[in-house]
Amino acid sequence: MSTASVKGGVPLAGGALPVLGHGLALARDPFGFLSSLPAYGELVRIRLGPQDVVMTCGPELTRAMLLDDRTFDKGGPFYERAREASGDGLVTCPHRLHRRQRRLCQPAFHEVRFPAYTEAMVASAVELVSSWRDGEVIDVNDAMVTLTMRAMVKAMFATQLSAELDRQVVDDLAVATGGIFRRMLTPPRLSRIPTPGNRRYNASQARLRTTVAEAITSRRADLADHGGLLSVLLSSQDEESETASGPAALSDTEVAEQVLTFFLAGAETTANLLAWIVYELGRAPALQERLHAQTVDALGGRPPSYDLLPVLTSADHATTEALRMYPPAWFLTRTASRDADLGGVRLPAGTTLGYSAYLIHRRPDLYPDPDRFDPDRWEGRKPDRTAYIPFGAGARKCIGDRFAHIQAVLSLAVMTAGWRFAPVTDRVPRAAVHATLMPGGLRMRVLSRT
Ligand code: HEM
Repeated sequence: MSTASVKGGVPLAGGALPVLGHGLALARDPFGFLSSLPAYGELVRIRLGPQDVVMTCGPELTRAMLLDDRTFDKGGPFYERAREASGDGLVTCPHRLHRRQRRLCQPAFHEVRFPAYTEAMVASAVELVSSWRDGEVIDVNDAMVTLTMRAMVKAMFATQLSAELDRQVVDDLAVATGGIFRRMLTPPRLSRIPTPGNRRYNASQARLRTTVAEAITSRRADLADHGGLLSVLLSSQDEESETASGPAALSDTEVAEQVLTFFLAGAETTANLLAWIVYELGRAPALQERLHAQTVDALGGRPPSYDLLPVLTSADHATTEALRMYPPAWFLTRTASRDADLGGVRLPAGTTLGYSAYLIHRRPDLYPDPDRFDPDRWEGRKPDRTAYIPFGAGARKCIGDRFAHIQAVLSLAVMTAGWRFAPVTDRVPRAAVHATLMPGGLRMRVLSRT
């Protein structure tokens, strides 16, 4: 272990460069860098630009930090940049605003809403595979982002945007999510320089806000419950909130922030998850054949649907395993809102902390042969809530966890029932650093099974 210094009992990871700190190592080889951290102990400091971030490396300590969301509040470089993009929406808001927002958003994720959402998910997956030609080589990331964005747009607005607007929203979201992470790794003053990249980022942000504001205005004028996320958010009432922490309903500005939040939090993450599954299936033809056979058998000629979820077990295990190996929300931060004690180490108020599901999920003491994609490890076994945290934990746990998991299972079912993925190269894709980690440049041949 090469330890440059120990501050407050927390060692600094080796290899920090002047000015950039570990930013470059994290951007160049995120998986390798994160996997090296547990060797330093339960807590290790890394440096992102000028900022020290204390990373939790052990599952218990990470869980302890996540469960105490009042002390370890949303903050730090990831959330500061994300807040610029989506305001004080549910993902980014501080603890004091959180419970009211969560109560008001929760009805949108109630089980009764899922049959309608799953229709949007299946329709989007069918739309995607219908556009494929037998033998065509596809850009997997692009295809999966289009798929999840379309499903989210359908589930959100319970209607279809025009093809042009749909494409624009997808492009703008890609720029927005990429920008958040790049901004996190570079000093804030650089993001204010009007470079072409910064201008593109600002323009896409502005366009997204206009599209969402227009959708809210038109939906307010028509109060019927269209069954979409947006309708639920607009009609959500919470009497407890009125007395406790704010008005009993969300204002238009708050609804707009939540809509952007759901897009930013839900589309690219689920797309990455699917892209890594497709990559792994391409590498393991026998596994892919098994998944295909089990799915076709379970569907019995019917299209995938909400009711068939319990029998799509192979797709379910592949999804659970991909969330372990490639957790899309791979690096997240917190700020200590007061002096705190974590694992016997005293952390003064203002300390920035970080956690990574990737780092926990690849620990060989928790998962034998952790770098092997093995959906069978979930046969008859449920994920452990401490060692398996692709959606975080505690009060700030992902509100869309079920939405994402179901979408991955149904999309996989649609794709693998009728199509086979064949790699076009043996090259292992480099993880491309975005707000999420995608298999950079992944292309795959799609072969029709009919
Ligand atoms: C595979 C897909 C997804 C992954 C891996 C993922 C992961 C996460 C994680 C790790 C957190 C906690 C962040 C933290 O601890 O700092 C989170 C929070 C959140 N996610 Fe997701 N997410 C996914 C999909 C979605 C979807 C589809 C939606 C919405 C439709 C969504 C909406 C949210 C929201 C609103 C929060 C904040 C919850 C709160 O603080 O109360 N996510 N997500």
